[in-house]
Amino acid sequence: MPQATYHFPRGFLWGTATSSHQVEGNNTNNQWWKWEQDGHTDGTSGLACDWWGGRWREDFDRAAEGGQNAHRFSVEWSRIQPTPDTWDEDALERYRSMLRGLRERGITPMVTLHHFTDPLWFYEMDGWEHDEAAVMFEKFVRKTVDALKEYCSFWCTINEPNVYALSGYVAGVFPTKRRGLNIALRVQANMLRGHAAAYRAIHEIQKDARVGYALHYRPMVAHNSWSPLDRLMRNIQYNGINMAFPSAISTGVMKSPMGNVRIPEAKGTQDYLGVNYYSVDTIKFDITNPKELFGKRYYPDDSDFSATKFIANIPQGIFDSIKWAVRTYPDLPIYITENGVEDAEDKMRPRYIAQHIHQVWRAVNFNFPVKGYFYWSLVDNFEWERGWTQRFGLWGLDVETQKRIKRPSVDLYAEICKENGLSSEMVQKYCPEVFEKLFPV
Ligand code: FCB
Repeated sequence: MPQATYHFPRGFLWGTATSSHQVEGNNTNNQWWKWEQDGHTDGTSGLACDWWGGRWREDFDRAAEGGQNAHRFSVEWSRIQPTPDTWDEDALERYRSMLRGLRERGITPMVTLHHFTDPLWFYEMDGWEHDEAAVMFEKFVRKTVDALKEYCSFWCTINEPNVYALSGYVAGVFPTKRRGLNIALRVQANMLRGHAAAYRAIHEIQKDARVGYALHYRPMVAHNSWSPLDRLMRNIQYNGINMAFPSAISTGVMKSPMGNVRIPEAKGTQDYLGVNYYSVDTIKFDITNPKELFGKRYYPDDSDFSATKFIANIPQGIFDSIKWAVRTYPDLPIYITENGVEDAEDKMRPRYIAQHIHQVWRAVNFNFPVKGYFYWSLVDNFEWERGWTQRFGLWGLDVETQKRIKRPSVDLYAEICKENGLSSEMVQKYCPEVFEKLFPV
């Protein structure tokens, strides 16, 4: 049996990612809380992982013991700026102690400034539809970065603006008051303006800051590669879902199937690209689906499905995503800001982790500038409209008792982080079913 280790470069960041609303608990002042109370989600976030109650300490201990040297988490706008004219200094102090907590454990923080949640007052003013949204966001960013800059210089302005806009204003599963493709376009344009304003503001405040955003990148293939209609639908969906932010940051023009918007100030506003990768979609022409521009997205029946079929395990897709990023922005550092799978029983997760990290290693060996990997997530948390039905954690969570449950993936990921690599022994021990794929003779 071959014995080998796929090593990563020195200084590679190994971490996990979380977000405020999904882990803090009692986030009563944002639009998601309201959406949950109005019955739009599978259960409610409640205490979540009780980080606001202090359990971040024990979870950061787990991360540190697991050899992680980085952690991506988000700050909650609705806590920091509970009304348009007030700042909650205690909330900022709480985030400062979390950042100190990471530093004390030898963990480099990456702070996300917007991860799907908006303060209720902002939502009531129509949120990112509002002409002044970018200005309001910039004000919050200035205050927050100024308060946290002592402990953090690695910033992610906005998480998955494409998912935020499309899941809300098109699919209707995220909180919005209205729906429509034109509104989704407007929202993404305003998020871009907000991102660009934040990028400049952060650099003004902190000279050595590294600022980027996290793109949910979705590789796509046509159902029938010989079908012009499937190919057309694939291209429309691909551009519609993936390209709004990347096109504007490359050229200053946000391109979309619904029209182009000039946003010159967005050009060049990233010091790294954050890629959130989960799976690959297959696209088919579907006359019955006008809402999504006549495209149907699905996973083939013979996919390696996650527990509830939310995700298909397609590791090659993370390599393709990195390759796309390098072609689009040569030399820009790339971080995998999220990658993971829901799997309460931890049957698939070990192989999902090993196979994806193997593909990241392949990318590194093409000299693609991948600098870090953040597994989603450290501990099970509140998965938006799907609530507690999706278990993404390395650690499981008993929501009633707040007890953390250790899954085998905890040890696998710890071994990877500590070794700064993936070895044949690890694969043999945690996911022998893919041994031959990862270590062929
Ligand atoms: C991403 C989100 C993250 C989490 C994972 C599973 O789209 O950024 O909050 O919900 O999916």
